[in-house]
Amino acid sequence: MKFYLDSANLEELKRACSWGIIDGVTTNPSLIAKEGVPLEEHVLKICDLIQGDISAEVVSTSAKEMIEEGLKLSKLHSNIVVKIPLIEEGIKAASVLHKEGVRVNITLCFSAAQALLAAKTGAYIVSPFVGRIDDIGWPGMDLIRDIVQIYGNYGYKTQVLAASIRGPRQVIEAAKAGVHICTLTYKVLEQMFQHPLTQSGLEQFLSDHKKAFDLVSA
Ligand code: E4P
Repeated sequence: MKFYLDSANLEELKRACSWGIIDGVTTNPSLIAKEGVPLEEHVLKICDLIQGDISAEVVSTSAKEMIEEGLKLSKLHSNIVVKIPLIEEGIKAASVLHKEGVRVNITLCFSAAQALLAAKTGAYIVSPFVGRIDDIGWPGMDLIRDIVQIYGNYGYKTQVLAASIRGPRQVIEAAKAGVHICTLTYKVLEQMFQHPLTQSGLEQFLSDHKKAFDLVSA
């Protein structure tokens, strides 16, 4: 299972990168806007920091413009994956970009039917948004299970990326469902480290060690 960091913040990316467990990064227009820097300039900084897939999203909505934007983004760096929204024009654009050899991440996926359309384009990744489905009272993780099963039935190569993840339990559920990738905020990644027994166990080990050492040196 690959872990991507769902962030465009360079400080978060640097810190998470130091753990040696990050396989890539996902950004979206909202995350880039928070940084207040032009997309292309910022994405290149991310590519310098992290060796792995870096998703950068188009902001146009016609197939023609998405193709132009996607080709331009893909030429910035070999690690860039072009993110395209799952709308009719997006599916058209994704099919063309795939044929041009561009790796595409089809985003804003909220149904298994949409995920089938994404796989048919030959997309590299599809991104179903678990948390946003939960937010409207539907079971987001059921969608992940459905997509993994459907893609498995037909051997589609498109990787399933669990997006909009709100906490460690969802990461485990997504892993059990067999997703290829989870994209995680820095906060969720930090939460994954935490267990009270790890903390108390470490305190005990260190205190026993110190007592024994103090006895020897006394
Ligand atoms: C990643 O590709 C998505 O853009 C992101 O996970 C969306 O997360 P959110 O629903 O917390 O904004």
